[in-house]
Formats: sequence, structure tokens, C-alpha cells
Amino acid sequence: MYSAGILGVGCYVPEQVLTNRDLEEMVDTNDEWIVSRSGIRERRIAAPEEATSDLALQAARRALGDARLAPEELDLIIVGTDTPDMLFPATACLVQRGLGAYRAACFDLEAACSSVIYGLSIARQFIATGTYRHVLVIGSEILSRITDWSDRSTCVLFGDGAGALVVGRVEEGFGVLSTVLGSDGRAADILRVPAGGSRLPASHETVERRLHTLQMNGPEVYKFAVRVVERACDQALDQARIPKEDVELFVPHQANIRIIEGAARRFGFPMERVAVNVHRYGNMSMATIPVALQEAREEGRVHRGDHLLLVAFGAGMTWGAAVVRWSKED
Ligand code: ACO
Repeated sequence: MYSAGILGVGCYVPEQVLTNRDLEEMVDTNDEWIVSRSGIRERRIAAPEEATSDLALQAARRALGDARLAPEELDLIIVGTDTPDMLFPATACLVQRGLGAYRAACFDLEAACSSVIYGLSIARQFIATGTYRHVLVIGSEILSRITDWSDRSTCVLFGDGAGALVVGRVEEGFGVLSTVLGSDGRAADILRVPAGGSRLPASHETVERRLHTLQMNGPEVYKFAVRVVERACDQALDQARIPKEDVELFVPHQANIRIIEGAARRFGFPMERVAVNVHRYGNMSMATIPVALQEAREEGRVHRGDHLLLVAFGAGMTWGAAVVRWSKED
């Protein structure tokens, strides 16, 4: 079995910034409420001509540059998204076309905000067995297109962006040391976009009733998230045989600062060892972990040999955690 690790990271966020002050003009909310409940101060919004594959492509090019890899060397492209360019073909195929990565097999993965951890786990299996050498895992999301901009309980929380990881062989003892994945379909209704699929295809009625936008029971998602984040982290650390004291950087899904700080407290991680950027981007779904990881690298907070603990949760409900021993000379 080969060891699989992260060879390159890339991210892309759209230029347009939407601040809490801007939202005050749109719905009955205020900066104090948003910051105290979520930690979010601003988020990015994709330009009208941008689709999910466009964001993904930018992130992918940067990740390939970081890995010093040509697109033709990719064996597999996985895109995690809740907001594909269209129902089919897969957004991964559109990214393939943009990159010219024609040797790669491509598919989309739908595990909501946990998709990058799911993708990392799949990539690791293919690389460990020697089936593939290089897998591109992308999380790309334009949540602003499925946001109900009249619903103050959700529209303040989300943002658009993309992050990509190139996964490939690394030296033994480095790379992905463990991954834990989980799902609980009993909680499927607490976070969803009800229409647009085969259950409720698009009709005048679904549009009028705003059923093509994200609906969330915030308090239920919050409780669920706190529970699964702790459990998944414990399991991933156990499997990797890494004591929590050895984690140099905790990279949680950036949905809400209270969930992040709660988890950090529970594990005894001081905030200097936690990657946080939810205040700048809001919840970009499956893009948050690669973007937070890349920003931590740019701040000089990631070094070869460091243990990184990644954890995510999302609609489904789904969750995932991974322990990665960083192999790049940053
Ligand atoms: N501005 C002002 N008031 C608001 C706003 C707003 N934007 N939104 C809701 N309120 C009001 C509600 O109407 C309610 O008022 P009421 O009590 O008079 O009915 C009140 O604020 C609710 O306040 P709290 O109970 O204090 O809200 P809470 O502490 O539960 O925070 C929040 C709400 C932020 C949504 C929280 O539940 C949460 O973060 N949940 C998890 C969300 C999450 O992580 N989602 C993503 C998961 S997966 C993924 O990434 C897609």
C-alpha cells in the first residue's frame, strides 16, 4: 500500500464582497446579531456570469501549480458541490474540459459540506492501492444562487468559493493517516433544498413557494454538528494513533465560530492552533477546509511533519474527519 498525501492546494473566492452592513439593507438583521451568532462579518458572491465550474477551475489551476503537476498527469477529478452548473453532466467533466485533463475519469460527489473529506478519503484509497497516481479533489460552491435572500435566518450565513487538493503518493509516515466518514439520513430534512430534483421538479408552484432555495433548521443543525464533530475527531485521532496534544493545526469546517470554538475548547486546542476564516467568507460549504488550509499555509502556520486534524459536517446529515501529516516543505 502506498501513502497518500496532499501535493498541492489551491483556492479561489469571487471578488464581490457582501458585508453585514450590506445585508442590513436587504433584510431585518444587524451586524451585532450576525457576528455574535456566527462570527461572520462578510462573504463573497460570485459574479452573474460565474458558475461553479468556473470557480472550481481557478482553484484547480492553482492547486496543480502548487503541486507542479500538468493537467495530463491527473487520473481522477472529483468535484464536491451542492450547486453544480446543471443537473448533468457532472461539473467534474466541465472542469476536465477547462483543464484539458483528458486522461482523468471524472465524477461529482454529493456529501454537502463534508464532500472534501469524502473526496480525500476516496482519493486515498485509489492511491493506496496503486490504481491511480494523482487525484484532484475540489469543493466548489455558489450558495448565493440557492439562497432565499428574504430569509434572514439563512441568508446571512453563506458565501461562494472553491478549494482544491491534489492528492498523490508521499513518503511513508506522511500524508493521510486516517479518515472517518459518517452519515445519518434520519436528519435529512433539517437542511435541504426541497425542489429541482425528481421529487419536486421545477414548476411555477415550486418557484413561488421558494422551494429551490436552502431551508435549514438552524438550532437542530447546530446540535447535530457539535455532536458529530467531537465524535469524528476522536475517531480520526484514535485511528491515526495521534494524541490530541500532537495536533499542530485544527482545520474545521467554517460554518459558525461558536461550533469551532466549542470544539477547540473540548479538545484543548488554543485558538493559535485553529484555522479560522469564517469571519471573511462565511460558510462556503465544501470549499471551507481547503481555503482555510491554504490561508494557514500562507500565514506560515503549516510545516513539514505537522499533524493536521480536518473535520466537516453538512446536509444529509454527513460528516467526516481526517488526520494528515503534512509532507510538503512549506
Ligand atoms: N438577524 C436578526 N435576527 C435573526 C436573524 C438575523 N439574521 N436570523 C434569525 N433571527 C432571529 C430569529 O427570528 C429568532 O427570533 P425569535 O426568537 O424572536 O423567534 C432569533 O433570532 C433566534 O435567535 P437564536 O435562538 O439566538 O439563534 P441561534 O443562537 O440558534 O443562532 C444560527 C441561529 C446562527 C442559525 C445557529 O442555530 C446556527 O449556527 N446553526 C447551525 C447552522 C450551520 O452550521 N449551518 C450549516 C451547516 S452545514 C452547511 O455548511 C451547509
